[in-house]
Parts: sequence; structure tokens; C-alpha cells
Amino acid sequence: MKHPVTLMINGMAHAVEVESRALLVQVLRDDLNLTGTHVGCDTSQCGACTVLLDGRAVKSCTLFAVQAEGHAITTIEGFGTPEQLHPLQTAFWEKHGLQCGFCTPGMILCAADLLSRNPDPSEAEIRHAIEGNLCRCTGYQNIVTAIQSAAAAMRAKAETAFAATPAKPAGQPAGAGV
Ligand code: FES
Ligand code: FES
Repeated sequence: MKHPVTLMINGMAHAVEVESRALLVQVLRDDLNLTGTHVGCDTSQCGACTVLLDGRAVKSCTLFAVQAEGHAITTIEGFGTPEQLHPLQTAFWEKHGLQCGFCTPGMILCAADLLSRNPDPSEAEIRHAIEGNLCRCTGYQNIVTAIQSAAAAMRAKAETAFAATPAKPAGQPAGAGV
């Protein structure tokens, strides 16, 4: 028996009919053709299926699709564009953080979760954050280097944006005149 659910993915609502036992990763790939989310193990070990759920990295093979209703889901398709890569995508490219690319969407979304909570992680903190994501060909050093590079680029961008923010006129309380 199928149930109608509406999944909010990459900012767009998708109405689908799913069996209650359907995993989120199956619905993403098989029903919605969002095949950037990979399946490596189907048993919650490899992290290839990682997506963001309300900004937090989750393994989409561990969630039923019906559980994801009402939450904001981000897949790699909603992360940067070919014309304007996210800093993490640029860094993985520049620092050779991938070879076959199978683990890369999951690695990048996992790193995005980390950097949203900790903009300046240590190497140990990066390694801890990605320990649930397995890479079988690149090795982890370049991946860690890429995440460090992206973190530095994102911090620099945030500092530039902050410096460009006009200061409030002296003596004007926050919200005054609104
Ligand atoms: Fe989900 Fe491996 S496919 S953790
Ligand atoms: Fe091939 Fe990680 S780049 S598995």
C-alpha cells in the first residue's frame, strides 16, 4: 500500500506516493531521479547516501521516506551549480579530494554539516566528522585537505561580507525606524 507524501528537496516540493517501507534513498534515486545520492552498502556503514535533513547530515538509507516529510532535504543536486560551485566542491576539485567520485556527494554534504556548526575545525575534528563516510580510492588526506581549504575560503568570504556590511548610525537602537 502506498502513501502520498510531499518531500521538500532542494527547496522544491515533490509529491510522491511511497510504500511505508520505502527508504529515503530509494525514493530520491528511483522515484525522483536524484541519482547524485549514492548507495554503497544499504546498511548504514559507508555514508555514500548522505543528505542533509534540516541542515544535518543523515544517511538516507537509514530513514523511511515518510519520516522525511516536513523536513528540508538537501541533496548534492541542490548544492552549488555547475556555473557556481560551492566552496567545498571547488576545494575537492582543486585539492584532488576525489578519484572515482562515488563517495564525494556524501563527503561534501557531511563536511557542509560540520562547517555549518564549526567554521574552523581542527584536522582531528574533520577526521572525526567524516569517519562514517568511507572512501575506497582517494585516501583521506586529500579529502581532509580539501575540507580545510573550503573552511578557510568560507571564513574569508564571511569576513569580507561582514566588512562590507554598513555600520548602524551611532545611537540608533536595533530595529529603530522599522
Ligand atoms: Fe547508506 Fe551506505 S548506502 S550508509
Ligand atoms: Fe572513489 Fe572516494 S573517490 S570512493
